[in-house]
Amino acid sequence: MEHIYPIKTKVSRASREALQNQHAMLIWFTGLSGSGKSTLAVQLEAQLHERGFKTYLLDGDNIRSGLNKDLTFTDEGRIENIRRIGEVAKLMIDAGVIVLSAFISPFQSDRDQVRQIIGGDHYIEVFVDAPLELCEQRDVKGLYKKARAGEVKNFTGIDSPYEKPKQPDLVIETGKSSVDESVKSLLDFIVPRLTYGNDK
Ligand code: ADX
Repeated sequence: MEHIYPIKTKVSRASREALQNQHAMLIWFTGLSGSGKSTLAVQLEAQLHERGFKTYLLDGDNIRSGLNKDLTFTDEGRIENIRRIGEVAKLMIDAGVIVLSAFISPFQSDRDQVRQIIGGDHYIEVFVDAPLELCEQRDVKGLYKKARAGEVKNFTGIDSPYEKPKQPDLVIETGKSSVDESVKSLLDFIVPRLTYGNDK
């Protein structure tokens, strides 16, 4: 960009990771509203924290009531939502943190962009796979009912698309396994990848 001169800091990500004794990572949950992203992210974060990892959780409804409260649920609004979150996560990864994120993130190209911004070594994509019928049946927030009644527009799965991940690192089928089982699968896959000096 013109007239912009980024500075170079003396403290690198690698040295921050060494200090914190962990490999910085973005654990990106994607899936329909009501699929279980937030539930899994909350439980996984607690388990990682208990194991001594420095974590932070970015969640759709929280970010959309603060940083991104100016954004809508049109395609453009969602694209900008994910772009900003990708940039925030990038800063946090640079700080050596283990970031968990729970956003619908319905578009493949946006998720690809985040993976590219962060770098494949520091990005784990988790597809929280639950059939639309099940999410609609759960309807924890009552939003599917409102979307069917036309009171909420552009609702994912109803009148706005969800593109299933082409190559997720992990798939969790929340209709088939319990929260505890799902969290165990996540821990088994993720913990070795967070451990400093472990090049798995
Ligand atoms: S994303 O598509 O831009 O990634 P995000 O994860 O931030 O979505 O926000 C999703 C949350 O916003 C849902 O869990 C739901 O509570 C709320 N929401 C409100 N309106 C909509 C809508 N039209 N489509 C999907 N979610 C919505």
